Amino acid sequence: MSEKMWAGRFSKDTDKTVNDYNSSLPFDCRMYKQDIEGSRAHCKMLVKQGIIPAVDGAKIDEGLVSILNDIESGKLTFDSDAEDIHMFVEAELTKRIGEPGKKLHTGRSRNDQVALDQRLYLRDEATAITELISSLRSSLISIAKENLYTYMPGYTHLQRAQPITLAHHLSAYIEMFGRDIDRMRTVIDHCNISPLGSGALAGTTYPLNREYSAAKLGMADITMNSLDGVSDRDFAVEFASASSLFMMHVSRLSEEIILWASQEFKFIELDDAYSTGSSMMPQKKNPDVAELTRGKSGRVIGDLVSLLVLMKGLPLTYNKDMQEVQETVFDCVDTLKAVIPPFEGMLKTMKINKDRMEQAAAGGFTNATDLADYLVRKGIPFRSTHEISGKLVHYCIERGISLSDVSLEEFKTFSPLIENDVYDAISIKTCVDKRTVAGGPAPETVKAYLDSL
Ligand code: ARG
Repeated sequence: MSEKMWAGRFSKDTDKTVNDYNSSLPFDCRMYKQDIEGSRAHCKMLVKQGIIPAVDGAKIDEGLVSILNDIESGKLTFDSDAEDIHMFVEAELTKRIGEPGKKLHTGRSRNDQVALDQRLYLRDEATAITELISSLRSSLISIAKENLYTYMPGYTHLQRAQPITLAHHLSAYIEMFGRDIDRMRTVIDHCNISPLGSGALAGTTYPLNREYSAAKLGMADITMNSLDGVSDRDFAVEFASASSLFMMHVSRLSEEIILWASQEFKFIELDDAYSTGSSMMPQKKNPDVAELTRGKSGRVIGDLVSLLVLMKGLPLTYNKDMQEVQETVFDCVDTLKAVIPPFEGMLKTMKINKDRMEQAAAGGFTNATDLADYLVRKGIPFRSTHEISGKLVHYCIERGISLSDVSLEEFKTFSPLIENDVYDAISIKTCVDKRTVAGGPAPETVKAYLDSL
């Protein structure tokens, strides 16, 4: 076993089981790029402040770049017993450039180093995820624009309620994903603050220029308390929270896709390329992508809960428990990046059965409210018109007909004020097209909304 960087105080080697248990290299190696970027910025700052000589700084920088290149080309692997990515890079640096390599860690602790790496890593990944969500949202906008006049039932309690359009329905998700993007941007902003210079917990006595290293890393600001800088992980919790809300939204849409693709609804047909079959039942075409997405949301919500429970009892400042934050965050990142592309592809390729949606909108008395509203316009108070319309629905159910099948004569027995114009007033098209209130389903309103995005 190679000698530990902290071996000075110890008189025994670490037990093998402890060594394996303690090591985070197998997973934190994925932050190698951020770790090296952070070290380069720290080194440049040390030189600028005259803390280490410029010649050493140049050698360190060259060494760090060569390590980065060799990792990227596959020449250097993480097959090492280093405790973590930070020690791996530092040991490799000293192996390559000798003595100057030992100066890199001046005025720095792995505690501020890991706090920095995680922020840089999440800044990158949350940016990539924001782009994926934006792409998904753009696809929904396109589908909505093609379905401004695709009438369908809107539901409450999964019972047909009032007619809307598919464009209006999808616009609800467009709004949700818009807020998800805003939340991810906030996460990026909160990650963009440098804790470097916080040291192990109490800063350092070296004349560090924290703003300088932060600026080198493109970070907007520095943390203002060294204890907070090394020990808080709220940016990670916020990321898991924004991710959970996004997953909750895609999960709800998944549930609708699953229902709509059923033979009972038949509102959509999923493309063969985005469906799967059964090993036993030859007729099956299953919405696995939507189901898996619904399932993955549980996993991401689990990540959020794990982080909250992990952090809530930790005294300030750093505790080794916090190493567990990393795999949880990585799981969240991997899951979102895996979910979005197939989900978006499924939506873009699904066939929309407009006739079937419109038929469903015409059934189920989704125009009963509009009939009541029609009578209000004839001068009857709403509570009374609600009752008249309800009685008419009952009348129709008994005869197996819909409101538009009722003759004017029959209508008049419920209210003499009903005229021939009732048929137009309760047509599905009128019910939807008249709802021009801001945020409402009228095609012109939804079109203006979609155009404004
Ligand atoms: N691998 C550690 C982590 O991820 C790095 C920080 C270690 N610091 C310490 N004082 N043990 O949390």
